[in-house]
Amino acid sequence: MTKILMTSVRPDEAKAINEFAAKNGVEIITTAKPFIDDEAIAMTKGMDGLVIQQHAKVPDNAYAALKANGLKQISTRTAGVDTINIPLAHENGLKVTNVPAYSPRSVAEHALMQTFRLLRNTYAFDHRVAENDYRWAGLQATEIHSATIGIIGVGRIGGTLAKLLKALDARVLGYDVKPREEMKGIVEYVSKEELLKQSDVVSLHVDLNDTSKGLMTIDDFKLMKPTAGLVNASRGPVVVTKDLVTALKNKEIAAAALDTVEGEEHIFNQDHRQDGLAAEPLVEELHAMDNVILTPHIAFFTNIAVQNMVDISLTDVLTILAGNESPHECK
Ligand SMILES: NC(=O)c1ccc[n+]([C@@H]2O[C@H](COP(=O)([O-])OP(=O)(O)OC[C@H]3O[C@@H](n4cnc5c(N)ncnc54)[C@H](O)[C@@H]3O)[C@@H](O)[C@H]2O)c1
Repeated sequence: MTKILMTSVRPDEAKAINEFAAKNGVEIITTAKPFIDDEAIAMTKGMDGLVIQQHAKVPDNAYAALKANGLKQISTRTAGVDTINIPLAHENGLKVTNVPAYSPRSVAEHALMQTFRLLRNTYAFDHRVAENDYRWAGLQATEIHSATIGIIGVGRIGGTLAKLLKALDARVLGYDVKPREEMKGIVEYVSKEELLKQSDVVSLHVDLNDTSKGLMTIDDFKLMKPTAGLVNASRGPVVVTKDLVTALKNKEIAAAALDTVEGEEHIFNQDHRQDGLAAEPLVEELHAMDNVILTPHIAFFTNIAVQNMVDISLTDVLTILAGNESPHECK
């Protein structure tokens, strides 16, 4: 029976993994540990396939070891493949696959929820109510069909968000280095400057690359309306965090909803109730602000997305083992 090792497995993935194994007649060996050391590499002995999911890099000595153990591929059940040295994998005859689109709706729905929370000032009401202050003063909401929402990066996720917003009759502005013909009629493409000036909420959905790193600086926040909110469910380094902290303190913008933030790898999906956030002072500052909504990189964490990450990555393993080409091969 085909044996597949799956690393960094969380309890919430078990149902999808067990269903896949039963349906396809394969044995899936799971471990909670990431694929980062000799102990993990040793587990691939006797295996036919490998599926990983982690923030840390696959160690350089793993590639030759996988080849020696007869493996033909490494599949990551994430969109990002920065954890894998693709040239080194190819040198060792290993194909690499990812899951480029496990569910654009998962992140788009999260961004829509945060857009509503910013427009309805719920972050501020939550703080007031927690202190037994039930007054309304200064917190009148904006109805979404009267709002202008700016999407920076109108790709798979940004485009999905645009359609959801359009269905709610919001005015949707978009800025993208590669505008898409099929989004016209849903998104009004404008310059970044125009988008920042006009939007009531700016939602970031670029991929992280050399052009998008540090895309939002203090100068950009100064262009935004002082009543506007920012949603970042893309990647932390897209925003210059110290500039965001300054902009929020100086009321250049009203609020921010952050699902990703620089330094998150030391914080998110971990328990810091005892030691706090002193190791990441900027995140600590954001956490302390009453106009910041922090979520721990959970936009993707839905029923559909988790199922798709498991199913697509395991299907790719079987496709490669059968000698066929997966549509998700990273060349
Ligand atoms: N928070 C989460 O849980 C979560 C989950 C999945 C993905 N993401 C993030 O969402 C990002 C977007 O995902 P996607 O699938 O929509 O990617 P995508 O590649 O389909 O879309 C990205 C878009 O950004 C545009 N872009 C890139 N650089 C730009 C720049 N400098 N200025 C303007 N536009 C630029 C691209 O042209 C493209 O249209 C991912 O790369 C990832 O960082 C977050």
